[in-house]
Amino acid sequence: MPSEHVKSEAGWSRRALAVADSPISGLMRRALEQPELISLAAGFVDQASLPVEATHSAALALLSDPEAARAALQYGSTAGHGELRDQVLALVLAQDAAAMSGVVPASRPDREQVVLTAGSNQILALLADALLDPGDCVLCDDPTYFVFAGLVQSVGARCVGIASDEHGMRSDALAAELARQAAAGTLERVKAIYVMSYFDNPRGVSLAAERRAALVALAQEYSRKQRLYIIEDAAYRELRFEGADVPSLRAHDASGETVIYAGTFSKSFAPGVRVGYGIFPQALARVVLALKGYRDFGSPHLNQCLVSRVLSLGLYAPHVALLRAVYARKAECMLRALDAEIAPLGVCRYQRPKGGLYVWLELPQRLDTSEQGELFAHALALGVLYVPGAYCFGAQSEDTRSHMRLSFGVQSEERIGAGIARLARVIRDRL
Ligand SMILES: Cc1ncc(COP(=O)(O)O)c(C=O)c1O
Repeated sequence: MPSEHVKSEAGWSRRALAVADSPISGLMRRALEQPELISLAAGFVDQASLPVEATHSAALALLSDPEAARAALQYGSTAGHGELRDQVLALVLAQDAAAMSGVVPASRPDREQVVLTAGSNQILALLADALLDPGDCVLCDDPTYFVFAGLVQSVGARCVGIASDEHGMRSDALAAELARQAAAGTLERVKAIYVMSYFDNPRGVSLAAERRAALVALAQEYSRKQRLYIIEDAAYRELRFEGADVPSLRAHDASGETVIYAGTFSKSFAPGVRVGYGIFPQALARVVLALKGYRDFGSPHLNQCLVSRVLSLGLYAPHVALLRAVYARKAECMLRALDAEIAPLGVCRYQRPKGGLYVWLELPQRLDTSEQGELFAHALALGVLYVPGAYCFGAQSEDTRSHMRLSFGVQSEERIGAGIARLARVIRDRL
């Protein structure tokens, strides 16, 4: 007979016991429980522009063809739908070729290097599995994408923050950290550099075009006993509403052995479809596929067939163009509200993003924005939610408690304005 005294977690793995609840899940729960709350926290996309018609047309075309429909409803392969893998490759290569004014990048990956997943988060998870052992580390922007930082922690590794300014990760700071690790004999524990190269999460900052080649060169220089990979997370690349696209880090990787490119249709099409993709160096593609084979032996095939139809029917590019206009308007709306409500307080700083979904607000250091602080509680009481900046920083950062990530993605323009007004009141009251 089972003992009544056996604790429910007895027998769980060390990983399960060590894992903390993801902060974003808690924030999302709060937003769902309190519908009147204006959540500027969640990275959800704009609701009104979700591609209902394009999805309908693509689904109709797919399902009206019984043979294609049956194929779509069957399991696919571990790596994913062949045609979509080619389309993804063509899409990324075309973006880079256009950004390099017609110069074709030196390395031209093939279909075997492309893996389709249920969202690009799965690419990141597969990489954590493929590259990291307990005690290893990944060099990241400081601040960085907190879901990635949590993922790294969940496998017993850690993120080391590299100083990052309004042009992204600083190459001098990265070079200094790599030199330090090499001198300390710990370079072998440094497995990757994680960079959101376009409109990062949480700041909306892009890595400057001039820094890209230097970053790839540094990763190559420090690939001594083992390869030091760059994980290029390009989740927000297509959500640019100002300026011209710039070549990816991948485009600077002549041998194609250093950069892993992670992309997604979640932000540029629909997160509910949740199709992501990775373009890997050849050897790494093989091991990632082996790991994925044991995990799920392929992500949902129907969704991949659907996205492939969206692309082949020419429905994708117009939708991306529409989104750029939508987010340009919403970003402008948030910035106007910040200019009107927060700038006059004279103590906060923020940048004007040229793409993506976020504005990063820096408050005076004496104001604590963390979930345990009074400011957060006050904001909740007034019905506005933000992501506390503390979640996004590495442990060694100095000032981690006076920032917030604001998203202009999901709320209507009216609610963005109202949310910022509430936030201004909270900040004013705490000054
Ligand atoms: C920087 C970044 N990378 C990756 C993802 C993952 O998106 P998905 O798994 O839906 O492709 C997100 C989602 O918010 C993100 O912000």
